[in-house]
Amino acid sequence: MTQNLADTSRPAAEPIAANGAASRGWWRDAVIYQVYPRSFADSNGDGMGDLPGVRSRLPYLKALGVDAVWLSPFYASPQADAGYDVADYRAVDPMFGTLLDADGMIRDAHELGLRIIVDLVPNHSSDQHEWFQRALREGPSSPLRERYHFRPGKGATGELPPNDWESIFGGPAWTRTVNPDGTDGDWYLHLFAPEQPDFNWDNQAVADEFRSILRFWLDMGVDGFRIDVAHGMVKAPGLPDLGGSDQLKLLGNDVMPFFDQDGVHDIYRAWRKILDEYPGERIGVAEAWTPTVQRTANYVRPDELHQAFNFQYLGTSWDAAELREVIDTSLDAMRPVDAPATWVLSNHDVTRHATRFANPPGLGTQIRTAGDRELGLRRARAATLLMFALPGSAYVYQGEELGLPDVTDLPDEVRQDPSFSRQAGQDGFRDGCRVPIPWSGTEAPYGFGPTVGGPSWLPQPAEWAGLSVEVQTGDPTSTLELYRSALTIRREHQDLGAGTSVEWLETPADVLAFRRGSFVCTVNAGAEPVRIAAPGRILLSSTEAVAVDGETVLPADSTIWWAV
Ligand code: NOJ
Repeated sequence: MTQNLADTSRPAAEPIAANGAASRGWWRDAVIYQVYPRSFADSNGDGMGDLPGVRSRLPYLKALGVDAVWLSPFYASPQADAGYDVADYRAVDPMFGTLLDADGMIRDAHELGLRIIVDLVPNHSSDQHEWFQRALREGPSSPLRERYHFRPGKGATGELPPNDWESIFGGPAWTRTVNPDGTDGDWYLHLFAPEQPDFNWDNQAVADEFRSILRFWLDMGVDGFRIDVAHGMVKAPGLPDLGGSDQLKLLGNDVMPFFDQDGVHDIYRAWRKILDEYPGERIGVAEAWTPTVQRTANYVRPDELHQAFNFQYLGTSWDAAELREVIDTSLDAMRPVDAPATWVLSNHDVTRHATRFANPPGLGTQIRTAGDRELGLRRARAATLLMFALPGSAYVYQGEELGLPDVTDLPDEVRQDPSFSRQAGQDGFRDGCRVPIPWSGTEAPYGFGPTVGGPSWLPQPAEWAGLSVEVQTGDPTSTLELYRSALTIRREHQDLGAGTSVEWLETPADVLAFRRGSFVCTVNAGAEPVRIAAPGRILLSSTEAVAVDGETVLPADSTIWWAV
């Protein structure tokens, strides 16, 4: 079922770095914009975003000032987990377009000077993947079963799962199969939904297949891969019991028999060699949930991947002391492995930061209440300026540049997050950050699709008319213009972008201030304005601020950039 480009003689898209050495180490300070293809731009009016839609909006991303675009999966998939259940790794799902559309998107992006990073899902496939379907059809003796984790059940008749592992999406991590003759069969492992069987990475065919998939997309010209569940592929030998329930609470706090096993690093060493064979510095980015930033650093050792998401930063409350600590720990952890620190506030799995910061701290990353929206937006704008001022690479999730909140009141019947219906495990409220974004107009789908009054796969709130790209463009007080200005300054200022440390300045409680060469960033994370000596000339501020006679008042929940 693998698709072919119509014209197989087409050369791969030119790598950007072919333009010169200026982009050497581009990933050390890149601002990478995450496109969630289902919700970015719908070219054909079916209510679902698609690749021609992304392609048509690339100039917007260029003008925003980002360096690269990471797209969540657009491969052939039954969409049991919004595309993170891949049935064919070399085909574009018809709902998103064709391989030719992907090729056109990569070419257009490169012409604009934007890089393209695609999502790779190597921990599990879809249960509709040809290998898994054959493994089921051919029965217990099928050699294809060795490419997944099939095991007999426990108990007198094999009626109990082979071990006590729980699925991240709720319920046991095992599902029992039915043999071709209709009798009860073995069980298979799925750390996520039952429609997402885990691959067995001890099997050579699995390793070979993924090396080939990497080459397929590298040959297409992509600039890198975001690696889904990068910490999950290797399981502890013998699949030992964990010995307790409520295992989700342990995630990210402990090394688990199915997460962050040392063996995963061999896979990345092999992949790094492949990436390095291609011109233009193709990169790998780990989505690795580990207990500490120090363990995350293992994924970006010089012979492994280039970047890893900083989830500790994403999970930090709007609190000066906590922020300072996570910034220091992150920079300290990355320095010995010579990898850039990364910073991220939102993505397609968590409540948008405008809503997280609108709510009291400690509610986690999937929040069901809108909270104080005005407060949330003020803090979100301040948090973004802080993030862009830090040394390293930053991630922007589509729509955050519009200050979008999460949609916390979606009716249950429209929700598609697979864990919502499983009633346990991860909260299942991820649809709230996945609502299609507003581009223009006064009526839904606000330019997301081509027809006024046309569909969108999740309903958009009426207030989003006032948050569209069209409304915000040219308004100097808008969040969109704040992002544009910040990214222009970040690009042009010699002391912003890549780096390994910040120089902290002495400040009152609730205030953070650091210096990077001739640049200073001040953050007031408190609820009261604070008067300080102005460190220099204001370059940009997340809220109205002035410096008079060498003094300034830092408004509550604000960040100011200074030239010194
Ligand atoms: C992480 C992805 O970001 C998430 O959306 C997905 O559900 C899981 N991995 C499983 O692939």
